[in-house]
Amino acid sequence: MSLHILHVVGARPNFMKAAPVLRALGGAGFRQSVVHTGQHYDANMSDIFFRELEIPEPDVNLSVGSGSHAQQTARIMTAFESVVLERNPDLVMVYGDVNSTVAAALVCAKLQVPVAHVEAGLRANDRSMPEEINRLLTDQLSDLLFTPSEDADRNLQREGISAERIHLVGNVMIDTLVRLLPRARENKKNGFPAHYALVTLHRPSNVDDPEVLRRILSCMLSVSNNSGSNSKEKQLAVVFPVHPRTRQRIAQFGIATDGLHLCDPLSYLDFLALQAGATVVLTDSGGIQEETTFLGVPCLTLRANTERPVTVEIGTNVLIGNDTDRLRTELTKILDGKQKKGAIPPLWDGHAGERIARIVQEYFEKHEKEVKRAPKISA
Ligand code: UD1
Repeated sequence: MSLHILHVVGARPNFMKAAPVLRALGGAGFRQSVVHTGQHYDANMSDIFFRELEIPEPDVNLSVGSGSHAQQTARIMTAFESVVLERNPDLVMVYGDVNSTVAAALVCAKLQVPVAHVEAGLRANDRSMPEEINRLLTDQLSDLLFTPSEDADRNLQREGISAERIHLVGNVMIDTLVRLLPRARENKKNGFPAHYALVTLHRPSNVDDPEVLRRILSCMLSVSNNSGSNSKEKQLAVVFPVHPRTRQRIAQFGIATDGLHLCDPLSYLDFLALQAGATVVLTDSGGIQEETTFLGVPCLTLRANTERPVTVEIGTNVLIGNDTDRLRTELTKILDGKQKKGAIPPLWDGHAGERIARIVQEYFEKHEKEVKRAPKISA
């Protein structure tokens, strides 16, 4: 019987990371299953990504839905524990930094099932972000840590994680981008303006405080309405696919958005096409900082820090916090053609998934006997 690898995904940014790993491990002959925690459940936050990224239908959906951090994490742990006990996987793969990631890793660590963390080692050095707590804990609990860049390796070594657990493989999210960019360009969505800033916002630090959210959106509006002196700004539309959490906050705080092109969250291919054609991207997402760096599109990140410093050091990313004066200045620079030029970080080449598959094979060659011999403890 072939070795069984169980993948855990739950929220939108997990799907594009899992797709290339599933593909590569499938090609290497492993038996695989997919557990969807149900952290994201709207069709346009989840189902459409499975279709476009050609991820197999989940074998199990835990359907945990939304809740406070403790509620969501606890629900995932309780439901996932039964799945692990029943399916008895040889390795569990977790992705990124969402609540589903840490919840699954913690269950596995207690059941003594090996865990591999894809996108390990990223640190913003900011424990006010829930994702930072998820990153720190998941990395401590994981047996195999797959990192996207050298800074991640250094962070892990500093935290006392032994070198043989750390593997620099490159960026799996870029694997998906490289594979699907040609299709995204063909699919280019009609009805969007020709010259636009693409905006995404969902971090609590930007959208949960009415004053901060109001200020950011009114800055976007003033750019869109050309209240500034730069005449080129006049032509720049603002396209804003709105995350469900942000949509709720805009409604709750009664913030006007006339003049912005708001739309529902987009599919992977539609969003990638929009990114590739944008004059500038304004975001507080992690993955979008990486995608714009790969695409060479200027990115202004509405955060004070980033767990992806390579996008600032090598790529096109500029951190501006929520300082709207700085936002205006940086936008003007870009519109004047004075944007930061970037390069693509090493190993962001479309082959990270294959590197992971090779390392997993080697891991089993080394550990298979122990893995099979070790008694699994019951709950
Ligand atoms: C989560 C991740 C974040 C990631 C983001 C991408 C954590 C701690 N955060 O944040 O790192 O960047 O996903 O989107 O795991 N909602 C819906 N439909 C859905 C999903 C969510 O309406 O399909 C609404 C719910 O009201 C929910 C809110 O969005 O309460 C927030 O969802 P949640 O999963 O808690 O966190 P995100 O903000 O999406």
